[in-house]
Amino acid sequence: MIDLKLPKPTRLEGIIVTIDGPAGSGKTSTAREVAGALDYRHLDSGSLYRAATFSLLRESINVKEWEHLTVSDLDLLNLQILPMDDKIIMSWDQKNISSEIRSAEVTEKVSYVASLPQVRKWLFETQQNLGLNGRLVADGRDMGEVVFPEAEVKIFLTASLEVRARRRLLEYIDPKSHDEMLDDEMKRINKRDLADQNRQHSPLVQAQDAIQVDTTKLTFHQQVKTLLGIIKDLTGIGS
Ligand code: DC
Repeated sequence: MIDLKLPKPTRLEGIIVTIDGPAGSGKTSTAREVAGALDYRHLDSGSLYRAATFSLLRESINVKEWEHLTVSDLDLLNLQILPMDDKIIMSWDQKNISSEIRSAEVTEKVSYVASLPQVRKWLFETQQNLGLNGRLVADGRDMGEVVFPEAEVKIFLTASLEVRARRRLLEYIDPKSHDEMLDDEMKRINKRDLADQNRQHSPLVQAQDAIQVDTTKLTFHQQVKTLLGIIKDLTGIGS
């Protein structure tokens, strides 16, 4: 009998681990640490959407034009995305933009840019290419469901809205001012969650075969340990 089922892709260097979840769930910091522990490359896919947003703003393309841009137009942006050792370096006009892509201006516009189908199409291939040989921990919103549906391990991180807002504030504000800013941050995060969940193309959803990990009560160390434990149990990879 002929088995018509396609074989799973053979990745030369290792497996793919995807970590998806809403804003502030700790995906990116956890993915970076897990990748380091496994000696894998880390792909922070949100930073690609941020870099695209930064380029559109910097190249003074009118916001009203963004939805009409084609993949060929996007190719003309002065943006470079290059894997270098275990990092992915993003530059605009030959300058590293890793801090600029975190600005409030980029953060305000990025959900809109990420909702545009042409932008998603344009970044899809770049992301898949980064995972061709495996040995990748990729975090984002649609890593397990759309970009790497064949990933060996899929995690979906959640945490309460309040905890996610507090974690985001910790990244840039003195903890003493947190209580007065908490409400505004919760509203901002909730608005982005709704935009990411309700958009037409690749909305934030938990892949059916993803394992959900609620990090509300976990420390960062416990979060990383939990994920490494899941990866070890499912694949035998890691120590
Ligand atoms: O994780 P982050 O805040 O850096 O993500 C920035 C934005 O990009 C956020 O609005 C969600 C979007 N995003 C996405 O749509 N798909 C991904 N795979 C990663 C991020």
